[in-house]
Amino acid sequence: MTADLVIRRANLPDGRTGQDLLVQDGRIVEVRPAIQAVAREEIDATGLLVSPPFVDAHFHLDSVLALGRPRLNESGTLLEGIRIWGELRATLTHEEVLERALAYCDLAVAQGIGAIRSHVDVTDDRLVGVGALLELRRRVAPWLTVQLVAFPQDGLYRCPRGLPNLLRALELGVEVVGGIPHHERTMEEGRRSVVELCTIAAERGLRVDLHCDETDDPASRHIETLIAETQRLGLAGRVAGSHLTSMHGMDNYYVSKLLPLMAEAGVAAIPNPLINVWLQGRHDAYPKRRGLARVTEMWAHGIPVAFGHDCVMDPWYPLGSADMLEVAKMAIHVGHLTSRAAMRAAFEAITTVPAAILGLEGYGLEPGCRADLVLLEAADPIEAIRLQAARLLVLRGGRVVARGASRKAALDLPGRPRTLDPGRPGAG
Ligand code: FE2
Repeated sequence: MTADLVIRRANLPDGRTGQDLLVQDGRIVEVRPAIQAVAREEIDATGLLVSPPFVDAHFHLDSVLALGRPRLNESGTLLEGIRIWGELRATLTHEEVLERALAYCDLAVAQGIGAIRSHVDVTDDRLVGVGALLELRRRVAPWLTVQLVAFPQDGLYRCPRGLPNLLRALELGVEVVGGIPHHERTMEEGRRSVVELCTIAAERGLRVDLHCDETDDPASRHIETLIAETQRLGLAGRVAGSHLTSMHGMDNYYVSKLLPLMAEAGVAAIPNPLINVWLQGRHDAYPKRRGLARVTEMWAHGIPVAFGHDCVMDPWYPLGSADMLEVAKMAIHVGHLTSRAAMRAAFEAITTVPAAILGLEGYGLEPGCRADLVLLEAADPIEAIRLQAARLLVLRGGRVVARGASRKAALDLPGRPRTLDPGRPGAG
């Protein structure tokens, strides 16, 4: 039999080296050293890292690339960003949202992202963003999986049409239930919104992903309601709390009670290190809180943690380049994720962990998985993060969908461990 593709001499994120991957009909059929097979196409990975694609578990495709419209965020706060977005939202058109989101998805694919969970604002009665991103989801599907979250940006109750618009978005095909309890008028309304949103998800068999406690206020504890509702409604494995920045400043004793409950309930966490380092601590004098949820402690309790990019060039964040390795690198620095094991886990937090949170079918490197792969110009996950390594090839279903430029000069630094195959072009 002639296979479609064989990739030779790959390093894999789990530490295996010298592996061949055989691909047939868009799926991986075999992974082991020195596969004796003929294939129509052969790629020599020359000891570089082959990974399943990056997965961005938290993004906003409706606001992406809208930086400066109608004005810049001078305070750098979440709340000014929400006000600016509110001004822009009233003027959005289907075509314009679609055009920006498509441009970003082009970049994301080239950067090796294979799936994005994007929140889409349902505050505006016109649901312009929903319509545009549903069309986007369909159009980019051959290259990129997009999962949409119905997100009442101004509050499920605080916005008069928040709840009916969220339900309309779900009817139109948005597949995850979102919310923003800390932005409701009172703690009680925030708590009720969590109960209502989880109930909606349970009744419809959907997943839940709330912007939860994205505030410096350590008294913002909607995560505990999210945990309790997950348990009450049997939603384990289908619920994520995004941001969770209040956890950074919470009382240590309270956190010691909270995290075991979170683990028991099967609630995942999605911190967004780039954006929350930018937004949080703005009311602090020195020392300033840095707004990252307690990653090391969540890992210690076995809580799944994925890192999201959240924003690129929009009212909240003027930087970013769809580079999930940059996201991981920021998390490592801000969260003191400095052991070798922690840095490898940071790579998993932008690949396998978010894939599980999204429920992606056929994700991974085992036989039977989809042949969605990225060839990175690095020997292992830690080096990939260090170099924000070039994506030399991006494959979807065994087909090359993007080719990146080599950054070979950065690999040839004196003192760098010689872990790469000496036969690699330009090495040694
Ligand atoms: Fe967000």
